[in-house]
Amino acid sequence: MCGIVGFTGDAQAAPILLYGLERLEYRGYDSAGITVNSGAGTLLTEKASGRLANLAVRTDNGTTLRGTCGIGHTRWATHGEPTDNNAHPHVASSGKISIVHNGIIENYRKLKDWLLDKGVKFHSETDTEVVSQLIDYYYEGDLLNAVRKAVYKLEGSYALGIVAADEPSTIIGVRKEGPLIAAYTEDAAYLASDVTAILKYCRDVIYLEDDSIVVIKPGSVTCYNKYGKVQNLTPVTIDWDIEAAQKGGYAHYMLKEIYEQPRVLRDTLAGRITEDGGSVNLSEAGLTREILRSVRKVHIVGCGSAYHAGVVAKYQLESFARIACEVTLASEFRYSSPVVQPGTLCVVISQSGETADSIAALREAKSLGVSVLAVVNVRGSTISREADYVLYTNAGPEIAVATSKAYSAQVAAMTLLAIALAEFNSGVNRESLLAVLGDLRKLPDLAEKVLADVAPVQLAASRYFNRGSVFFIGRGLDYAAALEASLKLKEISYIHSEAYAGGELKHGTISLIEPGTLVVAVALCSKLAEKIESNIKEVKTRGAEVLAVTSESLAGDFADSGDIVITVPDTHELLTPLLAALPLQLFAYYTALNNGCDIDKPRNLAKSVTVE
Ligand code: F6R
Repeated sequence: MCGIVGFTGDAQAAPILLYGLERLEYRGYDSAGITVNSGAGTLLTEKASGRLANLAVRTDNGTTLRGTCGIGHTRWATHGEPTDNNAHPHVASSGKISIVHNGIIENYRKLKDWLLDKGVKFHSETDTEVVSQLIDYYYEGDLLNAVRKAVYKLEGSYALGIVAADEPSTIIGVRKEGPLIAAYTEDAAYLASDVTAILKYCRDVIYLEDDSIVVIKPGSVTCYNKYGKVQNLTPVTIDWDIEAAQKGGYAHYMLKEIYEQPRVLRDTLAGRITEDGGSVNLSEAGLTREILRSVRKVHIVGCGSAYHAGVVAKYQLESFARIACEVTLASEFRYSSPVVQPGTLCVVISQSGETADSIAALREAKSLGVSVLAVVNVRGSTISREADYVLYTNAGPEIAVATSKAYSAQVAAMTLLAIALAEFNSGVNRESLLAVLGDLRKLPDLAEKVLADVAPVQLAASRYFNRGSVFFIGRGLDYAAALEASLKLKEISYIHSEAYAGGELKHGTISLIEPGTLVVAVALCSKLAEKIESNIKEVKTRGAEVLAVTSESLAGDFADSGDIVITVPDTHELLTPLLAALPLQLFAYYTALNNGCDIDKPRNLAKSVTVE
């Protein structure tokens, strides 16, 4: 999604803006642009479609736009094609106001007609341009005042960065539903849609609240609520180190993040298993024993991989904790008329904490009177602030668009929740708890072992990288793991793939199996191994080639049926998705690599989807 960065201080702004935009590249974009205030009553703007490198060339790495205050933007097109002209910033016809925007102005047609009637000329196909023209229309020498009047008329979701030619060191930021942060040092100040853009300069950041307007000047940040009252928002200290947001010698962020998983699993489990190893303690998330005891049903919402982490959790919660669980796509939650009962805990899973559909689901759940637990990675994000309880996933910054480590951290956090709830199930005895917790603690070491043995995965990727279509099959928890594996493959390699419950193929999809079709069978659950073996036979009979991912103790069963067999160490059945994910992420990675794809920034995708 779009990225915003702003700087005001005593250094040249354009190189700082370009650096910030580079840090935001991972979010996905198709054009970029910068406006710098010349300090002499003019705004200097450059925009370029395509990669940020085009903008860097056009501005000679920022040196042609001289000035110490400015705003920059990476655009992910919604209204209007990704052309130079539609790229942000959008400068009003007077040349005096320039803005960058993330989100959608839902009533832009109406506002545009209103402004056209007043003789305003438009230069782009975007919804954003109405905002710059509207602020310009109201501008009478006081930017804050003009912004307030314009914002009053806007409907939709937006994060805005605004500069005016005649206010040479001021940036105004506005936030309604789109993520936006501000920060300041002694002689400078920053605005950004994501901490990674400014982490190099400051670590104490202010997360703006909905409907806040912020005035940013060198050395100061002043936030106002929608009634114009000054707000005292406490800065949050970001403890991510800059190294963690860089590639550290790996060819791609995704590969680095895949290899970080043993550390991420350790960090997500740390302090949440009691010293005696016999119990889970989630009090840090606000989940006391009394609260956990009162939970009768769990309703999970999330999007994409976060939804898949929810599907894993459903199997765990129902089979181990014996608690009813429903999983709904966050984008459908509001339209599914959820039936909530007393004792329902809604769990919103999100890496970014800013996914628009997940925020909407959270608000819907709260409006139904349900308590909400956020399982979130980004501290201070909207979802973490609006939920009743927050269980952080501690994955650190995830830069690759396709998630790997954040997904595993979500599964690990949800596993802890399932075990914590199981403690109140009289059917789960102490031995069972000790067994699963014991294996959970060993999991980071096992993950290391899996990641060290990459040769079979590379072999599989080199043999199958040019298949037109891939089917993933599994049953139970293996099916949940297959859903995520299939998404991973298709999003970064652009190979069409689908995940099916093993028993379901024969109800229709088996007609698509033909000689050479690749079927990836996920088979780590011993109880279901024979069933999945039968499903493998069904597809092999029809000419499919089979890549089997299984455990060491089941490997013998698949030696004949799998064309390539990848094994992972044995662990407790409940935990198998955490190990299955690793070779399957690597398979997607090496398949995409063999296909020459842009792995960290797959086409059309955005890291944080802040529009509904
Ligand atoms: C897939 C992926 C997406 C996200 C989804 C939710 O690799 O990254 O499917 O999982 O967009 O994002 P968050 O977790 O930020 O809410």
